[in-house]
Amino acid sequence: MTKRLVDTEAWVKDFFVNDSTGHDWPHTDRVRKHAIYLAKREGGDAELTEVAALVHDVADDKFHKSEELAVNYVGAGLQKLGYNQKEIKAIMEVVATVSFRGGNNKPPESLEGKIVQDADRIDAIGAIGIARCFMFAGNKGDKMYDPEILPRDQMSKTEYREKNTTAINHFHEKLLKLKDMMNTETGKYIAHERHQFMVSYLEQFDQEWHSKK
Ligand code: ADP
Ligand code: NI
Repeated sequence: MTKRLVDTEAWVKDFFVNDSTGHDWPHTDRVRKHAIYLAKREGGDAELTEVAALVHDVADDKFHKSEELAVNYVGAGLQKLGYNQKEIKAIMEVVATVSFRGGNNKPPESLEGKIVQDADRIDAIGAIGIARCFMFAGNKGDKMYDPEILPRDQMSKTEYREKNTTAINHFHEKLLKLKDMMNTETGKYIAHERHQFMVSYLEQFDQEWHSKK
């Protein structure tokens, strides 16, 4: 690892210290590892992919007062870490397209963008995805499940972020859709297995909810 990458890692770790919304440092670290794995199989610029994976959530507007302030914060941080303007532009282009935002974000064009998005999505599904979903819901004050509250089909970015739903609904609003939204072949393969695990989990949940097991 280059000194720049080591310093970037320390900067990001510091940003996420004490996070309990499912965007802690281990999430970023897992996304980085998935991204490196995908890049080995799919190609692309390895360092760009890794840096973009490291900063993908630091650059997310939900941690800042506006999208513009988020971009400024990460731009200034990367400059201090020794990246030049051309590199910063490329990194920002990759991270700009990663987030799901209720299905409202534009898809990534570059291979690095596709890889980082797949890496982030892999961490939203499977056993880890289930754990993150319940943590997020609990943190937001949402219920675990309520048969009276139906999953939403279409939603704006604000509705997706702000309106109350349930943890189980989130599977239908996002998590179960991700396997068909993967960009790369390697990503699709990994998502398939994690998807099956979520489907079995939901079946078991339903049976336990109705006291059938
Ligand atoms: P993004 O904007 O990229 O979708 P989020 O901040 O919405 O990222 O998601 C972070 C994690 O929390 C993901 O694992 C996501 O699936 C989960 N999550 C997001 N919204 C909800 C929600 N309303 N209920 C439960 N989990 C959620
Ligand atoms: Ni993320």
